[in-house]
This record gives sequence, structure tokens and C-alpha cells, in this order.
Amino acid sequence: MRIQLNLYFGMVLCLIILPLSAQSEEGDWKRGRVYFRMVCTACHVDKAGGAISPNTRSKAEWNAYLEADKHAKGINSVKYYVSKPYRASIRATNKAAEKFADVPDQDLLDDIRAFMTKGAKDGDSPASCS
Ligand code: HEC
Repeated sequence: MRIQLNLYFGMVLCLIILPLSAQSEEGDWKRGRVYFRMVCTACHVDKAGGAISPNTRSKAEWNAYLEADKHAKGINSVKYYVSKPYRASIRATNKAAEKFADVPDQDLLDDIRAFMTKGAKDGDSPASCS
């Protein structure tokens, strides 16, 4: 519950700020943003000491990070946290996992990549709201 409240507060801020910079673009970065915030950030706030913002790295750095796919120093992978089995495991309590339960893994990964590179520090609209 606490996580959801923190997240909700962050999302309210983002909803106010982001449309000003991001609305002209189209594509699945929006779906990536929803998943990133509701799944990735929810856990980071809880277990990684805080949100990890896209604008902390460049596009090239994010692409290299996602290519290497060694999340949390290689303990697991970003792909795992995007995968259908992971979504299935949290869908009872996570609305984004529930909503995107049947999206193919690669599509969702592409969406997240689109959001992270768009929000990168040298991206189209650097996003501090993660
Ligand atoms: C269940 C918890 C959890 C989920 C879900 C999760 N992460 Fe993380 N993530 C962590 C933790 C814990 C760390 C910190 C690892 C450390 O400091 O060693 C981390 C660190 C990171 C980092 C910093 C670099 C690194 O790998 O240490 C990035 C980037 C990241 N996560 C991206 C993502 C993305 C993208 C998703 C969603 C697709 C995601 N994470 C989902 C727990 C999670």
C-alpha cells in the first residue's frame, strides 16, 4: 500500500509535467512508461533505495545496458522482469502487469526501451519522472 501511494504521488507529478514535453510523440513508449513506472519503479522505490530515472544515462548507455541485460549486477535480467511469467506472478496485485499480461515479451521490452531512450539525458524529452 505504501509503495502504491508513493507511486501514485509520483505519477500525479508526472501527469502534470510530462504532457507538456511529450505529447507530440507517438508510439509505444507510452505503454513502456506505464510499465516502467508501475512495475520497475515500484520495486526500485521499495528495494533499490529509490526511483531510477531515465535521464541518469544517455541513449547509448541505456541501449548498452539493455543489450547486456545484467540487471542488479547480473543477479537477474531486465528481460525477466518484462517477461510473461513475471507479469503473471504479480498480476494479482499489479495493475500494469494485469493490463499487459498478454503482450509479447519482445514488444513490451521494445516499449520500455523506447521510453528509457526517449527520456535519456540526451533523449527527445529527458524524464526525471521515472
Ligand atoms: C522486484 C524488484 C525489481 C524489479 C521489478 C525491477 N528492478 Fe531494477 N533494480 C532492483 C534492485 C534491487 C536494483 C539495485 C541493484 C543494486 O544496487 O545492486 C535495481 C537496479 C536497476 C538499475 C540500475 C542498474 C543495475 O542494474 O543495478 C536499472 C537500470 C534497473 N534496475 C532497471 C529496471 C527495469 C527497466 C525494470 C523493469 C523492466 C526493473 N529494473 C525492475 C529491483 C528491481
